[in-house]
Amino acid sequence: MYSNQLANNYFDRNKKSKDKVTIYSIYLYNLLENEKLNNIYEIGCFTGSQLGYLCMNFGANGTGIDLSSKSIEYARKKYKNHKFICGDASNLQVDNESQDLVIFGFCLCLMNDDHYKNNMKEALMKVKSGKYLSIIDFDSESTDTCVRDKIAIHKRDHSDIPGLKLLEKKIFYTDNKKHSYDTIYERYSLWLFKKK
Ligand SMILES: C[S@@+](CC[C@H](N)C(=O)[O-])C[C@H]1O[C@@H](n2cnc3c(N)ncnc32)[C@H](O)[C@@H]1O
Repeated sequence: MYSNQLANNYFDRNKKSKDKVTIYSIYLYNLLENEKLNNIYEIGCFTGSQLGYLCMNFGANGTGIDLSSKSIEYARKKYKNHKFICGDASNLQVDNESQDLVIFGFCLCLMNDDHYKNNMKEALMKVKSGKYLSIIDFDSESTDTCVRDKIAIHKRDHSDIPGLKLLEKKIFYTDNKKHSYDTIYERYSLWLFKKK
């Protein structure tokens, strides 16, 4: 299972991108820009850059959770108006039905099937009815499991999650790769759902 130690290793390896706003966050904002979102929660928030960007643009309150104490320490210093929790996706520590948008920020691939199922259930409980859940993850064209940095990476199809209606799915490619339907390992995707 992913741990604080592995999450801190991820922080150390990716310090260079600690302030980066990603294209998928900009895309997500564009999808929802006409909605009123008061509370946004990011699971796997890293240093808070995606959450900070989205909350600034929506004028929303943010909560982020991450297993990495180093990431959370950085996020707390940088984004004083938002709440950051060092912890696991299984316990989100906010009221049920309190969030307008809950995001799985590229962390579902690190969870085995049991954790995936339980953590999805926990996240869904936090979203208000009729509001949004978003997933950033590897693309479902490749649904196998592989190992990177000695960690199992699970690639899944998220299109049929009970209780969620799929609104949008957008494919992105990792930097410097040509867009091709054959380069399935370089594809990742953003999914946007509405809670029924
Ligand atoms: C690939 S990074 C993505 C960071 C950020 N969301 C983004 O999109 O730029 C995934 C993050 O999820 C965190 N993470 C992984 N599993 C987690 C879990 N079970 N609970 C909380 N955070 C987790 C990791 O520590 C890491 O910071």
